[in-house]
Amino acid sequence: MNHVDRAHSQVSALCRAAIGTAAWLVIGPAAAQDAKTIAATVCVACHTEDGNSVIPMFPKIAGQQETYVIKQLKDFMSGRRKSDVMGPIVAQLKPEDVAPLAAYFSQQKLMPSAPGDKDVLGLGKMIFYDGNEETGVPACVGCHQALGAGFDIYPRIGGQHAEYIRQQLKNFAAGERSNDPSRYMRVTAKRLSDEEANAVAQYLMGLGGK
Ligand code: HEC
Ligand code: HEC
Repeated sequence: MNHVDRAHSQVSALCRAAIGTAAWLVIGPAAAQDAKTIAATVCVACHTEDGNSVIPMFPKIAGQQETYVIKQLKDFMSGRRKSDVMGPIVAQLKPEDVAPLAAYFSQQKLMPSAPGDKDVLGLGKMIFYDGNEETGVPACVGCHQALGAGFDIYPRIGGQHAEYIRQQLKNFAAGERSNDPSRYMRVTAKRLSDEEANAVAQYLMGLGGK
C-alpha cells in the first residue's frame, strides 16, 4: 500500500463513522426554514445568503459537502479548528442548528469564479492530477475528486477562492489548522512549494460548478 492508498483506507473508515453519526440527524421542513433564516441574518454578512462569498478571504460554502460542513462547524465549536472570526459565530448557534445549516448550504448552487493567473494554470493542473513525485506531494484529485467537487468529509475545493485556498494551505503547513484526519493536509501542505501552492489554488478557482 502506498501513502495515498493507506490514507484512503483510513479515510474510508472515518467516512463510515461520520455517515453513521449523520444518519440519525433527520432534517424536517421546519428546521430547514430555520437554517434559511440563520443564513439570511447571520451568515449573509460574510458568505452571502446562498454561500457564494464574494470576498476572497471568506470561503464559498455553497455546494460544499454536507458531511464536511457538519464536521467544520463542530470543529469550530469544540476549538479543534481555531478561527477568531468563526469562533464567536458558532458560539451563538445551538448544536441542533448545525445539521440544517449544513444541509441548506450544501444544496445551494456554487458559482465558480473566473480562472486564475493564466501563467501558472499548467503547473496547477499538474499538481492537481499528478502531485509531485519527487517531493512526495500526492495528487489532490485522489481525495478531492474530479473537478475538486469533494465527497463526504473531503471538501469541495473546485471553484473556491484562490486566496482562501492559499491561506488554508499555509495554515495546514504551519500546523495552525490541525483538524485534518490523519494529518493528510498538514503533510501535503508542508511538501508543497509556495509556487506549487499558489499554482494549484489559481487552477482550482476556475473549476467546477454544481
Ligand atoms: C464575520 C464573517 C463571517 C460570518 C458572519 C460567518 N462566517 Fe463562516 N467563515 C468566515 C471565515 C473568515 C472563515 C474561514 C475561517 C478560517 O480562517 O479557517 C469561515 C469559515 C466557515 C466554514 C468552513 C468553510 C470551509 O471551506 O472549510 C463554514 C462551514 C462556515 N464558515 C459556515 C458559516 C455559517 C453557517 C455562518 C452563519 C451561521 C457563518 N459561517 C458566518 C467568516 C464568517
Ligand atoms: C489523502 C487525502 C487528501 C489528499 C491527497 C489531499 N487532500 Fe486536501 N483535504 C483532505 C481532507 C480530509 C480535508 C478536510 C480536513 C478537515 O476535516 O478539516 C482536506 C482539506 C483541504 C483544504 C481545505 C478546504 C477548505 O474548504 O477549507 C484544501 C484547500 C485542500 N485540502 C487542498 C488540497 C490540495 C491542493 C491537495 C493536493 C496538493 C490536497 N488537498 C490533497 C484530504 C486530502
